[in-house]
Amino acid sequence: MDHAAQVRLMERVFGFLDARSTELGAAPFANDVATYTSPEQLARERELLFGREPLFVGLSSEVPGPGTYLAHRDAGVPLLIVRGRDGELRAFVGLCRHRGAQLLEDGAGSHPGRFTCPYHGWTYDERGRLIAQPCADGFAGIDRETLALTRLPVAERHGMIFVRTRPGEPIDVDAHLAGAADELRALDLAGHHRFARRELAAALNWKLAVDTFLEAYHVTSLHERSLGAKIDGATAAWDAFGRGGRLVAVRRSIASARARPRSEWNLFEHSVVLYQLFPNTILIYQVDHVEVVQAYPGASPDAATVVFTLYTPGAAVDERARRHFQANFDLLLDVSEKEDFRIAAGMQRGFHVAGHPPVIYGRNEPGLAHYHRMIRAALDA
Ligand code: FES
Ligand SMILES: [Fe+2]
Repeated sequence: MDHAAQVRLMERVFGFLDARSTELGAAPFANDVATYTSPEQLARERELLFGREPLFVGLSSEVPGPGTYLAHRDAGVPLLIVRGRDGELRAFVGLCRHRGAQLLEDGAGSHPGRFTCPYHGWTYDERGRLIAQPCADGFAGIDRETLALTRLPVAERHGMIFVRTRPGEPIDVDAHLAGAADELRALDLAGHHRFARRELAAALNWKLAVDTFLEAYHVTSLHERSLGAKIDGATAAWDAFGRGGRLVAVRRSIASARARPRSEWNLFEHSVVLYQLFPNTILIYQVDHVEVVQAYPGASPDAATVVFTLYTPGAAVDERARRHFQANFDLLLDVSEKEDFRIAAGMQRGFHVAGHPPVIYGRNEPGLAHYHRMIRAALDA
């Protein structure tokens, strides 16, 4: 975000503070709780969101150079993302074309240019071509070329990697991010490295995990002890970018900036900037590090897998920095698990009470209203 945009946002925030108000949407939005409980909706989400949309899968540094790979099945499909020795990034369904064994365990590392299935030893090259088949006679008559790994659309831009979990259209990252692309490019995500990653199984709908990051309204009450001293939950700024958006949660320190000349104003010092990347990712810019939260459906509408990752600027982290980043990561997990997700799990159970009325996203929660409108639009399309 350039300096002029930071100043404009800070002026907007100061206007909210003066008026003891916050960003207000046009109207409250009532959402049927079936969006969180319906198995039919979950099936549509798997099909239309997790099956067809570009999904954020990580930063470029997680597949850092020629001969590296990243494998995980969080999105319901075992993804194998490979940087070839030619430097090109390719993505595949990581399932063997013989009888479907998973080629690799979830993880990341370097590869020797070929991937051998642990079951019967079929071997694929880094372009996904089947190059070895023990007892090939058994498969005589089947053209080897038809037995390549299933190739998936993948795109790398602004230091981020996006994949579709099924074959389909190429991915246009900038179109997907809409106006957020320029801001995200300026964060130098390409220079950020994974410090820690943790998966949590949570008893809540995957969208409830996203919801917790789309308004600051709950900070004053729910996070009073953990975050309330630093974050002012009464004021936040929201901007939609395409189907995603950006929430600026304000640090109380922002008041001190006001007396300084505008040329010295730095929004990032006095806020937490959260980008919602449609449909399931939150990217949180914390100046000295980046946190990413990805929510995926679990086995039912009542279950989610939520992946937390902390990225540091630069790969080298000395002992003092390590303690600092670990403390930040622990706080993120602690607050999410013990505060946000604990409340959300109670909501999730409650949504099954017969005749549960719709939930209401207030005008002061415009990020939630936007998000759920976009989900609805994608599912109705
Ligand atoms: S399932 Fe992979 S070689 Fe048989
Ligand atoms: Fe929260």
